[in-house]
Amino acid sequence: MSFPMHRPRRLRVSEKIRGLVRENRLTTAGMIYPMFVCPGAKVRNEVSSMPGVHQQSADQIVEECREVESLGIPGVILFGLPETKDPQGKSSLAPDGVVQRAIEGIKRAKLDLLVITDVCLCEYTDHGHCGVLDRDQIVNDATLEILSEQALSHARAGADLVAPSDMMDGRVGAIRAKLDKNRFENVAIMAYSAKFCSGFYGPFREAAQSAPQFGDRRSYQMDPANAREALKEVRMDLEEGADIVMVKPALAYLDVIRRVRDEVNVPVAAYNVSGEYSMVKAAASKGWIDEKRIVLEILLGIQRAGAEIILTYHAKDVARWLK
Ligand code: PBG
Repeated sequence: MSFPMHRPRRLRVSEKIRGLVRENRLTTAGMIYPMFVCPGAKVRNEVSSMPGVHQQSADQIVEECREVESLGIPGVILFGLPETKDPQGKSSLAPDGVVQRAIEGIKRAKLDLLVITDVCLCEYTDHGHCGVLDRDQIVNDATLEILSEQALSHARAGADLVAPSDMMDGRVGAIRAKLDKNRFENVAIMAYSAKFCSGFYGPFREAAQSAPQFGDRRSYQMDPANAREALKEVRMDLEEGADIVMVKPALAYLDVIRRVRDEVNVPVAAYNVSGEYSMVKAAASKGWIDEKRIVLEILLGIQRAGAEIILTYHAKDVARWLK
């Protein structure tokens, strides 16, 4: 393979030929758009650190979902900002809770969209941790019951997939058992399997009002230094019945996405998280980078690393750009 017999530039001379030999093609077919549901009606507040992303009431969520559907994006993932918070996150179980009402609204509007729900306690607990507490400890097994009830409540409201993001041990198995016992065997689980304790979630915690009120999430989310351990988490979630496994965040963990992709034979998702989005938006607003070019390059990189599903706040923009 040497010059002058081989001239790689031959295959780069025109867009036609570059397109012909392209190894990865970015499409919206694997993209999921994250949304934040709040109480009330006709509420639509932009998240200051995430331009273009809003906290909105269920009626507004349905309107934006119409747009998401028309752009050819296959699904949304919903996060809830409840009316009330308590130590156990009980408002997450209410049949008329924020997320439950949004799911029902989307389904009533007969939108052709997959509705995924984030299953976690941090948005619903007054202390902001993803599990229940015993003094200052986040207790694992007692959290599983309330997480499975939350998943069941989302399934009853019409969720197509549930996505546990709490990083408690055993939650996938507990949720699978609860769903099956209640005849929701067709509701799939997209597990946040390798979720790292990351500074990149900063803007999300403003969006979801879910910052921990003391301490941090290091006792349950993964240490950013560990890649082998991510494979262990993935394998455990698969044994417990996960249908799709996720790596999160995406950009600082592209090696983990690749290793997971090479290791398992289920779909792999990656979450292009809030901080990754906000950095691009901030730099673009200052004119320091070309937003469209950078976003397409980032998402292509995540896809090339091995993710066939990408959760991204850029999904609507990308859909417009690719049209
Ligand atoms: C927790 C959850 C978080 C995100 C998704 N689910 C935040 C956290 O763990 O603190 C982050 C998503 C993002 O940053 O875009 N329920």
